[in-house]
Amino acid sequence: MRIPYIRKICVLVLTGAAFVVTASFSVTATRKQVAENKVVLIDDSGDRIVLEKSDVLNVVQEGQGEVETFSADDEAVERILADTRAAAKALNERARAGTEDESIRIFDEKQGYVDADFSEDWSLILINKEHRIPPDYQFELATIKGDVKSDVRVAEHVIEMLQAAKDDGVYIFICSPYRDLEKQEMLFEKKIKSYTRKGYDYDEAYDLASETVAIPGTSEHQVGLAFDFVTQDHQTLDAEFAETDGGIWLKEHAPDYGFILRYPLDKTEITGIEFEPWHYRYVGVRAAREITALGLCLEEYDKLIGNVD
Ligand code: DAL
Ligand code: ZN
Repeated sequence: MRIPYIRKICVLVLTGAAFVVTASFSVTATRKQVAENKVVLIDDSGDRIVLEKSDVLNVVQEGQGEVETFSADDEAVERILADTRAAAKALNERARAGTEDESIRIFDEKQGYVDADFSEDWSLILINKEHRIPPDYQFELATIKGDVKSDVRVAEHVIEMLQAAKDDGVYIFICSPYRDLEKQEMLFEKKIKSYTRKGYDYDEAYDLASETVAIPGTSEHQVGLAFDFVTQDHQTLDAEFAETDGGIWLKEHAPDYGFILRYPLDKTEITGIEFEPWHYRYVGVRAAREITALGLCLEEYDKLIGNVD
């Protein structure tokens, strides 16, 4: 599966997004970016998408250094965001139509023109009720310990993260790593039964179950990209985990190891899953930091970067 442009286009899209989420709409930028006053996407065939900023930005010089501050009003923010979304979408569509990844160059606000880097695109796959695991999805499993497995590309990151927690005196354990379809089906059926026993009919029980256990075929555990964690003193998967030392540590540090809190309390309407402070999903360090800083869930982020409609 190839989802090009994402890593570098994030710089562009999130430039706009950053405006939206900061009350003052004040961010820093290099002189080069402000001087050029535009964001440019370009490929070797010469096609360019230019996002002009000159008409919407107030440039304020701060001293003689390399850093300047600019600001934009609400309307400008919306326009920048719409432009960047459109650019991301256009580029993704062209990529899906067969444009060679290698030919894509993109204007990165820190480095100038750079080759697009798609090395972590795999980690941004959206899996939820509307986006089932593709039938041809392929990955390799790594054994972390015993039956504890994950996508081979994720294993080292979770190990590193748990070691870092330990170094900080916080003992976090994996309680649910990769699981296969059969196991997901078993967990789902068990959850449905727990509701039918309480008097719900099957359809109601199915819907309620799907808010806590992913419908088989839609769990991130099935592709080895997610883990459920517990601590020594708190071994139940409930909301209180958020208040434990492990829950607090993960919330603060997981993005530095490429993991996001996948089902936040304020996003249940979007994710369709209850608050799960114990479930972390690997998306890569850069995306994890951006998603966390912007207060998004993966559904919103993937939409923002044009990965899904
Ligand atoms: N509990 C999460 C949603 C899963 O089953 O994947
Ligand atoms: Zn989970």
